[in-house]
Amino acid sequence: MNTEQLVRTFVEYYQERGHRRIVGSTLLPPPGDPVLFTTSGMHPLTPYLEGRPHPLGSRLVNVQRCLRTTDLEEVGDTTHLTVFEMLGTWSLGDYGGPLSLDWGYGLLTEGLGVDRSLLHATVFAGDSQCERDIPSLQLWEDRGVPVELTVEDNWWSNGTVGPCGPDSEIFLWSGEGPPRSTPTEDDRWVEVWNHVMMRHRRREDGSLVPLPQPNIDTGLGLERLASLLQGKSSVFACDLFDPWRRLVPPLWQLDEPALRLVCDHLRSAIVVLGDGVRPANTGQGYVLRRLVRRVLTVLWREDSSYGLGDLPDELVRHALDHFRQDMPPADVLRVLLDEEHRFERLMERGRQVLARPRFRGRLTEEDFHYLHDTHGLPRDLITGLRRG
Ligand code: ALA
Repeated sequence: MNTEQLVRTFVEYYQERGHRRIVGSTLLPPPGDPVLFTTSGMHPLTPYLEGRPHPLGSRLVNVQRCLRTTDLEEVGDTTHLTVFEMLGTWSLGDYGGPLSLDWGYGLLTEGLGVDRSLLHATVFAGDSQCERDIPSLQLWEDRGVPVELTVEDNWWSNGTVGPCGPDSEIFLWSGEGPPRSTPTEDDRWVEVWNHVMMRHRRREDGSLVPLPQPNIDTGLGLERLASLLQGKSSVFACDLFDPWRRLVPPLWQLDEPALRLVCDHLRSAIVVLGDGVRPANTGQGYVLRRLVRRVLTVLWREDSSYGLGDLPDELVRHALDHFRQDMPPADVLRVLLDEEHRFERLMERGRQVLARPRFRGRLTEEDFHYLHDTHGLPRDLITGLRRG
């Protein structure tokens, strides 16, 4: 089953259960939102989770592109992507957690043919502010799915304040042979679907108050589930990355983690550009700049002749088409090349400045500030240059 079929199966399953499809938004949150990018499917729906009636009713389904910079350091492993898609469902004060989990279980096992013995769930164990999630525990016990109880890992919030609640996560076994151990103890259990019982709001002082209505917010990682259903051990091996796997290795010889990082960051950079962001020294533009610079650092470490001028137009087009973005591929390539030249010049200046006797020994905080403020050299670039 390719990702497109998976999306269709998911959406239809929920439409048959009374959900209306909403159009996913871009990666850019509305003005005034404190976060830089949309990090979860619920993010654009916050006002409705807080009680405003949604024009399409109380049961919603969608596909939302998300970007998580918290995962940037983990990209290169088999499960993390910077830009990924989340299949989401919502009950806005409608049905409760057990029904949501039961539908999720039904879709995975009957709709998608996942072997039930490969599933594991986790459930909120309870703490001083919120009781143990007995209804979820009960549901999994009735379905014969093993459960692990945790506290922090089963509490979901989108920030320090705002809507939040206990969650129940569904894991799929990705290892060889029969499943072993539990999700917190064996990372071959891959988290695919999170069901959040979003019925609280966290206030500035840390206390919890009930939301005007109890909601359910679920998010399923499209690329993770697709790769597991396709029998692949990494998200980079699912069909969405086919053109990348075909076109990048003949161009640049990279080991597997470096190849994953380059494909992830370039694809993410293209999507961010397609949503209207341009490289800058702050905010969203800085995230874009970091993505491009990390790619270049990896490429140049391998071979200083590698560069983005060789990036095939087909890959740019593939990413833009997938996310239905209408920026011309030639414009994307032009921005990427400008960024490469700017980085080249900065690296050159960095090398010259760091060769001065003053910077030969250990650098102090004051040195880092001076290098940044006077020469525009960011800390990670300085450390990289000194290592190299
Ligand atoms: N909002 C929840 C998450 O992102 C579903 O995991």
